[in-house]
Amino acid sequence: MPLLPILRFPDPRLKTPAVPVEKLDDSIRRLARDMAETMYEAPGIGLAATQVDVHKRLIVIDASETRDQLLVLVNPELVESDGVQFCEEGCLSVPGIYDKVERAEHVVVRYLDLSGQTQTIAADGLLAVCLQHEMDHLQGKVFVEHLSLLKQMRIKAKLLKQSRITA
Ligand code: NI
Repeated sequence: MPLLPILRFPDPRLKTPAVPVEKLDDSIRRLARDMAETMYEAPGIGLAATQVDVHKRLIVIDASETRDQLLVLVNPELVESDGVQFCEEGCLSVPGIYDKVERAEHVVVRYLDLSGQTQTIAADGLLAVCLQHEMDHLQGKVFVEHLSLLKQMRIKAKLLKQSRITA
């Protein structure tokens, strides 16, 4: 199965809002498999379709230490959130950058699994952060956009410089 290329911030395609998956067919299941493989290989704990330039509401997550708790969420929707936590985040689209972001401590997310069944997940801690981070991607938002404008400018400059060196 092919690994998918991951868009790098500040690529403007990362700003594209994703549309809901209307038909949960084999192409979506294949995309989910390829995204999971890409996430594990990177390695990362979450990947949104937006990051591989597919603008559909689909995310994969594995926030477990054992790397064997894959979650595939189609059309995820936040149905509940409360509390506050600050967690240091990173992102496969923003390599080498880590910073603290304010997130809800507890979230409930409703989604479809790959067989089309509606599921609900309640999460706190790292998994809650990860769900919020990936759902942000589907709205065209990268975690660094929660930081100050000055920090965002520095991060953009750093990543653009890197891409010139490696391109
Ligand atoms: Ni990310």
